[in-house]
Amino acid sequence: MAITELNKSQSRNEAQGEQQQLSEECQELLNTLPKERGWRTQHLYLFQGFWCQPKEIQAIMSVQRNFIAQDSDVVLATIPKSGTTWLKAIAFTIMNRKNIPVQNDNHPLLTSNPHELVPFLEYKLYADNCIPDFSTIPCPRLLATHMPFSALPQSVKESGCRVVYLARNPFDTFVSIWHFMEKLRPESFGCLSFEEAFDMYCSGVVGFGPYWDHLLGYWNESLQRTQKVLFLKYEEMKEDTNSQLKKLAEFLGLPFSIEEEKGGVVDEISRLCSFQTLKDMEVNKNGKGAIFADSENKDLFRKGVVGDWINHMTPSMVDRLRNIMDKKLSGSNLSFQLL
Ligand code: A3P
Repeated sequence: MAITELNKSQSRNEAQGEQQQLSEECQELLNTLPKERGWRTQHLYLFQGFWCQPKEIQAIMSVQRNFIAQDSDVVLATIPKSGTTWLKAIAFTIMNRKNIPVQNDNHPLLTSNPHELVPFLEYKLYADNCIPDFSTIPCPRLLATHMPFSALPQSVKESGCRVVYLARNPFDTFVSIWHFMEKLRPESFGCLSFEEAFDMYCSGVVGFGPYWDHLLGYWNESLQRTQKVLFLKYEEMKEDTNSQLKKLAEFLGLPFSIEEEKGGVVDEISRLCSFQTLKDMEVNKNGKGAIFADSENKDLFRKGVVGDWINHMTPSMVDRLRNIMDKKLSGSNLSFQLL
């Protein structure tokens, strides 16, 4: 058999294997959903208005049916590659700073990847047909999701649970997704060029996308329920991390005291959670499986800058994405710093 044929049949087998792990209900549902070529799986499906992989759909259905939010919960929400790892590190450190001082030699971030400390609802807790045992997770529970606001369980929207959304400009987010997918895509799925991926992204076909809908869902909610939904931007966190840390701590009901500020606690958290500090940790240099069993933790830390898109996109790509953003975000008052 020629290599391409072999690859095609291998990827068909992988796709079939993927489907076999799904419940009958989910398999039946997939047959009714629009689908497009995926970035690292055979297909992405349009489920409840956003694109996702079969296993994610099954887990999300389970989250929607089974997860009951508590008033003290904090849910971190992002689209993939917009700074989730960073937000998890920061929120975990702020929320636990009384019990685990930042300078503690045993601080969990020194030996664990942030994804191990703040579990995803759909990738971890409710993945693979599991129903989590929450009695082992202390309150207040710190959880994460990539789901759009519209897909969150009703109890998250109606309880006192707080939601923190981190947004990143769609140019850098695309470049980051593309690089990450290059690392994750099985060889048998063939190549996905930067141009092809960009087309898919612009059409909204990207995990949990269209990204503009994801952004607007949380943005609008943050304007209406300011006490319950906080909207942060990656670029502002890069520009002035300390002031964003203070904003987050206040939103969480855990403001920094004057003594903490004078004692340099905010600076210490910024430093501990910075790109370079986390990237240099042994667990993040050589560890594996923080998100997916087959992924290396080092791939979560690429460049960590604002404006890397300029090194990748042609002027016509820039125009196209700029036009889409202008159109989709028009009237929302939501804008991004691009460089
Ligand atoms: P780049 O690929 O542009 O470098 P996510 O955590 O949602 O997967 O997002 C990954 C992106 O966040 C990557 O962007 C990664 O380098 C960057 N990142 C990871 N940790 C960071 C940190 N502590 N500070 C700033 N950026 C970080």
